[in-house]
Amino acid sequence: MPDISSEKSYADGKILQHATDGVGVITFNNPDKRNAMSLEMWEGFGEALTALRDDDAVRVVILRGAGGKAFVSGADISQFEKTRHNAAASEEYARRSVAQRALLADYPKPTIACIQGFCLGGGMQVAMLADIRLAADGSQFGIPAARLGIAYGYDGLRHLVSLVGPSWARLLMYTGMRIDSAEALRIGLVERVFPEAELWGETMAIAETISQNAPLAIKAAKITIAQVLKDESARDMDAIKAIGTACMDSADFREGRQAFMEKRKPRFQGK
Ligand code: COA
Repeated sequence: MPDISSEKSYADGKILQHATDGVGVITFNNPDKRNAMSLEMWEGFGEALTALRDDDAVRVVILRGAGGKAFVSGADISQFEKTRHNAAASEEYARRSVAQRALLADYPKPTIACIQGFCLGGGMQVAMLADIRLAADGSQFGIPAARLGIAYGYDGLRHLVSLVGPSWARLLMYTGMRIDSAEALRIGLVERVFPEAELWGETMAIAETISQNAPLAIKAAKITIAQVLKDESARDMDAIKAIGTACMDSADFREGRQAFMEKRKPRFQGK
């Protein structure tokens, strides 16, 4: 794990953020509650995402949980009696937390969820909103909404269905069961699984590779894949064309070509 002395703190230290060498890291830091997310943490998470989004030096963002036992164990259930006890209260709760998740859903930079331990409920939603999911081999995944009497919502289920298909989505949602990393890998919920001791190094290696590649080309892939996932009628083909043009006219494309011909490593600047 990196040096945490330069970390910025949000939500009373329950959300931490730092950036080194083009890689931003946000840590869910409430290990006593297995990183369960309070509303304050959702809001802090949004602030941390915004800070890294607006930092031009940051090219990729990793999300992770502190304490080794959980990524995020879902929303903080102890707040529900006050903030989410009926439909009206739930709507206000959703308004405050959905805004932060929307930031992640529309994030302009690549995001990686680095998952060690429990990844449950709202934690799954965060992980599924990230572009890529990497997990330690002892992790556990589940959405216990049916055990709590909660409707999981459109966005969460849309991502679940797009990752694992409707049948696995139904099995997970109807039973509230937890699955391990091997099964999560097999059904496409996570992309790679590593031994616990190797997870952070492997995650950083992938993040560093991404941070050294051409930012506009990555943005083009991100925008285009997001449009592929939309219904045809809702697709913004102009956005795909615009980023394609920006890429092909970029100084980075010139640098990429030149570096290849000169047999050296390219130095991309995102323009
Ligand atoms: N909300 C609030 N508190 C939570 C929490 C959550 N989502 N998940 C864990 N905690 C708290 C526990 O209440 C416990 O608090 P305590 O020490 O004051 O008793 C502490 O975190 C540790 O949890 P514990 O259950 O003792 O640890 P564990 O390692 O045996 O199990 C979990 C971890 C995550 C499997 C288990 O706590 C759990 O099932 N949590 C609820 C998950 C859930 O339903 N999430 C969906 C919410 S929408």
